[in-house]
Amino acid sequence: MSATVIAIDGPAASGKGTLARRLAEHLGCPHLDTGLLYRAVARVMMDRGIALSDAEAAASVAASLAPEQLDASRLRGVEMGEAASVVSVHEAVRNALLAWQRRFATQPGGAVLDGRDIGTVVCPEADVKLYVTASAEERARRRFREVSATGETTTFEAVLADILRRDARDADRAAAPMRAAPDARHLDTTALDADAAFAKALEIVESARS
Ligand code: DC
Repeated sequence: MSATVIAIDGPAASGKGTLARRLAEHLGCPHLDTGLLYRAVARVMMDRGIALSDAEAAASVAASLAPEQLDASRLRGVEMGEAASVVSVHEAVRNALLAWQRRFATQPGGAVLDGRDIGTVVCPEADVKLYVTASAEERARRRFREVSATGETTTFEAVLADILRRDARDADRAAAPMRAAPDARHLDTTALDADAAFAKALEIVESARS
């Protein structure tokens, strides 16, 4: 079997990140959480006091991102997700990150990438494309549980509003909007726990590879 490229897209808190990580582990290939790239650009902009709306500055940060700036522990959280969504609207930022993502995808052993535009823009030739969704309410429940577990105080309503705002921004932007590729298989995780979602995803991957 030749190297398999798996593209996983979907909205925030749909479960795509966990699925991508588990699939990569199972297949023994590397995984790239592309959201981290946008989060890292936003983090650097915020640390330097640059407005997230400054497309030119954001593109130059994106073009010179260093691996140590991708440390996930500094990039987690709802606030960084929102800031990443804001910088990801800039086409120049997306273009600056494209070649790097494609290089990652085409390494000899195959790869799993997750994001918003992997099946449509980054890897339109991917062997398997999954579009992972869940209802906004279920996604907000998951995010609310995660956020509450960190000790941060928030409300379910605030988390739901954040999710809906982020969905709208990511799906309505002009540059590489969040969208299922026409040949993507859809996986709705609303009623599935992590193990059941993984079993379904694996079934889809195995049937596409055979
Ligand atoms: O997957 P995440 O929540 O870490 O992503 C944060 C934001 O980054 C998301 O709201 C939009 C942007 N993003 C993107 O535009 N394209 C991707 N491939 C990945 C993330």
